[in-house]
Amino acid sequence: MKTFAALAIIASAISLAVAADSKIVLPPETAALRPGTGAELAQANCMICHSVDYIKTQPPMPRKFWEAEVKKMREKYAAPTPDNTVIALVEYLTATYGVPDPKKP
Ligand code: HEC
Repeated sequence: MKTFAALAIIASAISLAVAADSKIVLPPETAALRPGTGAELAQANCMICHSVDYIKTQPPMPRKFWEAEVKKMREKYAAPTPDNTVIALVEYLTATYGVPDPKKP
């Protein structure tokens, strides 16, 4: 019986130590839009519904893709992106997350 009591004390001491050690530390927030002309515009218009991950996990795509993406957000998902910001957003996205259009020979 004494052994059992001693074991119980040891076990609870261990579980207390484990509990004290198990603080959950979240990683720092690193998901931010890359800086550049139009970054604030994208912050204001594109981060309303989802995180930057949707943008930054896309492979580098040409301007056409980003045009279609912004169009889709507005038409399919009803993003309240004003007409007069679309060009600036597409420029920012292409310059920051895309590839330049191939030069025509
Ligand atoms: C009204 C809400 C809303 C706004 C504002 C919005 N999106 Fe989205 N976005 C969505 C939804 C919904 C999805 C699809 C989520 C899914 O499929 O899980 C999505 C997905 C995406 C994707 C992933 C690829 C895809 O087509 O599914 C990209 C890239 C993206 N959005 C970019 C943007 C950009 C750039 C802007 C700013 C111009 C923007 N979003 C603004 C709702 C929004």
